[in-house]
Amino acid sequence: MTEAVTLKITLPKIPDIELVALEGLDRLARHLGIDEEKIGEARILVTEAVINGLEHSGEEHPTVRVEFTMTTADLSIFVQDHGKGFDPGSVEAPDIKDKLGSKNKRGWGLNIMKSLSDDFHIESNRNGTKITIKKLLR
Ligand SMILES: Nc1ncnc2c1ncn2[C@@H]1O[C@H](COP(=O)(O)OP(=O)(O)O)[C@@H](O)[C@H]1O
Ligand SMILES: [Mg+2]
Repeated sequence: MTEAVTLKITLPKIPDIELVALEGLDRLARHLGIDEEKIGEARILVTEAVINGLEHSGEEHPTVRVEFTMTTADLSIFVQDHGKGFDPGSVEAPDIKDKLGSKNKRGWGLNIMKSLSDDFHIESNRNGTKITIKKLLR
C-alpha cells in the first residue's frame, strides 16, 4: 500500500501566513519525492484557495483550516473558512479582453483552480466556505 501523509493546520488571518501552508506542502512533497512540476501547480492551488479563505474569513472567526493528504499518486487539499460564503454559480468567468484594458485584474483564482485540479468542489453557505480539490501527482 502507498504511504499517505496528512497535514492539518489552522492559519490565523495575519500577513503572509499562506507561506506556512506552502512550506508544509513542500515538506510532504519532498518526503514523497513528488515531481517538481506537479508541486508547482499544487502550490498555485493552495495559494489561491488559502488567500480566498483568508480574504473572506469572518471577523468572528478569522482563521482558515487547511488539510493536505498526499501520496505518491495524488494530493487532496481541503480549505475551510468561516466567512459569509458566496454562490459559486454566480461568479462570472473573467474575460481576458476586459482584463487587459482594465484596472480590475481580479477574478482569476477560481478559474485557475479549476484548470489546475483534477477534481474541484465548493460547498458554501452563510456559515462559510469549504473547498475540496483533488490533484493527480503522476
Ligand atoms: N472563500 C470565499 N468566501 C466568499 N467569497 C468567495 C470565496 N472565494 C471566492 N469568493 C468570491 O468569488 C470571487 C472570485 O474569486 P477569485 O476567482 O479567487 O477572484 P478574486 O479573489 O481575485 O476576486 C471573489 O471576488 C469573491 O466574491
Ligand atoms: Mg482569489
